[in-house]
Amino acid sequence: MTESKVSLGSVLLSEAVIEARVAELAEQISAEYAGIENLYCIGILKGAFIFLADLTRRLTIPHTVDFMAVSSYGRKGAVSGEMRLIMDLRQPVEDMHVLLVEDIVDSGKTLRYLQELLRSRNPASLRSCAFVQKRRDRRAAPVDYLGFEIPDVWVVGYGLDFSERYRTLPYVSELERSGRDGAPLASTA
Ligand code: IMP
Ligand code: MG
Repeated sequence: MTESKVSLGSVLLSEAVIEARVAELAEQISAEYAGIENLYCIGILKGAFIFLADLTRRLTIPHTVDFMAVSSYGRKGAVSGEMRLIMDLRQPVEDMHVLLVEDIVDSGKTLRYLQELLRSRNPASLRSCAFVQKRRDRRAAPVDYLGFEIPDVWVVGYGLDFSERYRTLPYVSELERSGRDGAPLASTA
């Protein structure tokens, strides 16, 4: 297989645009959960670590953070194969108000898997927040709080990577490919 070369393309979401939207989301979440004892915020590694940090630092309600990590089985390069939990929470979430925080929803398979898993643990409530969503697929997992809808292109930055590169860019950029093979870009969750 020919290695495709990649480079940064146009900026889809600037730092300022992201900052303003994250502040809005935090305000909305804080208002809707006003009065609760604690919101258990779960970031999905690795991609959600920056979004989770920015979002939770703007919450005005009591909250705690925890992390989960998933990986997809299947052939190398598969965007969404069979799901496997590779890191679990530090404590049970029974009777807790849980907010799942994801970087990106593409097919929705990752989020749906986590929603089903967490629901089976009987939280008091379970909602999901995603930084970006690629397509509005009716079969996709329900997203209660969404930062941005984006076109169906590979994006990097603000936690999102391409083969572990570009995660810590402060903005979101489209990835430009100059490879000759038409293989889909690999996901590393
Ligand atoms: P799903 O198809 O919704 O299950 O998404 C699978 C995973 O693929 C996401 O959690 C991301 O880790 C990754 N992913 C999908 N699209 C992109 C992208 O454009 N950039 C970086 N990662 C992506
Ligand atoms: Mg991810």
